[in-house]
Order: sequence, then structure tokens, then C-alpha cells
Amino acid sequence: MPAEEKHSLAIRWFHWLNFPLLFIMIWSGMLIYWANDVYRLGWGETTLIHFFPDWLNVRLNLPQRLAEGMSIHFVFMWLFAVNGLVYVMYLAISGEWRHVVPGRHSIRDAVLVTLHDLHLRKELPPQGKYNGGQKIAYTSIVLIGIGSLITGAAIYKPAQLSWLTKMLGGYPMARWEHFWLMMAVLGFFAVHIVQVLRAGWDNFRSMVAGYSLVAPEKSANPPREERA
Ligand code: HEM
Repeated sequence: MPAEEKHSLAIRWFHWLNFPLLFIMIWSGMLIYWANDVYRLGWGETTLIHFFPDWLNVRLNLPQRLAEGMSIHFVFMWLFAVNGLVYVMYLAISGEWRHVVPGRHSIRDAVLVTLHDLHLRKELPPQGKYNGGQKIAYTSIVLIGIGSLITGAAIYKPAQLSWLTKMLGGYPMARWEHFWLMMAVLGFFAVHIVQVLRAGWDNFRSMVAGYSLVAPEKSANPPREERA
């Protein structure tokens, strides 16, 4: 079966640089959060979930490392920002944004793909490089990344960027937004990994090596030449 190009070298570099960078940002963020772990799910005196329990902090060796966490967070945020910025510019200039940004039918397609994945519907809607659900997820994660940078800047320099901190609802609110954007990244990651595992080896390899071997009619995400 002939190999067909699926992901450009640039996309693969951005993607695989982003993974460790994001991991370091979340881990160093947790070193910082440990020093003032105020968030929880609950009401009044009742707490359903406290982020994050002591046993988890100890297990992950997070306690007493605030200064270390801050120094790592404030170095790697620049690399994370540059990689994300160059990725967005690349999508815009190369025209590849067309594969990632949702269109008019993406919400409907996402519902149909979800019904198909749940075995409630036989046929898949017509697929491009990415289906409607993927387009919505990939565009959302870019927006979440941008949101993390903006809210992060607001709590990094609340005096110099006081206009920004104010716009986001004040320091405590900007911090809360920053935290929940990180939780959204974790949510995206969990779904992304399940989808990658379900899609199989050829799909994973295509993000590493760039090409796909699966016959287009069998692939949920056909290679470039077969895309509508
Ligand atoms: C072990 C970790 C990861 C694996 C194995 C993985 C795997 C993949 C694969 C195989 C694709 C191609 C999907 C397809 O062609 O249908 C993809 C695309 C993508 N992934 Fe991941 N991924 C990982 C981590 C992440 C993380 C942490 C993020 C961001 C938070 C992310 C964001 C994306 C985005 C935005 C795309 C679309 C890229 C584009 O075409 O512009 N991934 N990933």
C-alpha cells in the first residue's frame, strides 16, 4: 500500500514540542498551586472535591517547592508561548487552518461522529483531514492555550498589567480562570489520548513519521490527497 503524506514536518514539530512544554507548565504550576490550594468543587461547608488532596501532592513530590515551581513556570511559559504563536502563524500562512477551524457543519458533524462512536449510528459523516468533533476540539485547545497565556500574564504582572487583570475581573478571578483553563487542558488531553488509542497505530505513526498507510476508504482521517 503506498504511503501518503498526512501531517507536515512543521505540524509534527509544533505538536511534539508542545507536549513536553505543556507537561512542564502543568507540573510547575502544581508546584506553585500547592502553596495556596484554595479551589474545590462544592457548596457552603460541603466539599465534594478538593484540588488537590495532600496524598497526591506528597505522591507527586510537590510540597515546599514554590520558588522552584515559579522559576520553572516563568521560563517555560516563553517557550510554550513562542511554540504556540509560531504554530498559529504557520496554520494561518500555510492555509492549513482550513483543516482545523470548524465550519458551518462542524457541530452537526461532531454530533454524528459522537453517535457513530457510541455505536448509535452506522454511517460516518463525510470526513476531511479532521472531522467536526476534532476541528472543534483542536480549535478549542488553541483558544484555551491563548487564554492560559493571557490569564497567566495577568497574575504574573498584576501591577504592570493592571488593566488586563482588571479586565479579567481582578486578581483572584484571573487566578481562578487560569486554574480552570489548566483543568480544561487536562480534560482535552484525556479525551485526545482515548481518541488516539481508538484511532490506532497508523494514525499515531502519522503524527510521528508524517505518512499514513491505511487505505483511504478504511481511514476515519484520510491522507491529504483524499481530502475533500
Ligand atoms: C502522548 C500525548 C499525545 C499523543 C499521543 C497525541 C497524538 C496525536 C495524533 C496522532 C494526532 C493526529 C490526529 C489525526 O490525524 O487524526 C494529534 C493531533 C493534534 N494534537 Fe495531539 N497528541 C498528544 C498530546 C497532545 C497535547 C498535550 C495537545 C495540546 C494540549 C495536543 C494537541 C493536538 C492538536 C491541536 C492536534 C491537531 C494538529 C494539527 O493538525 O494542526 N496533543 N495528536
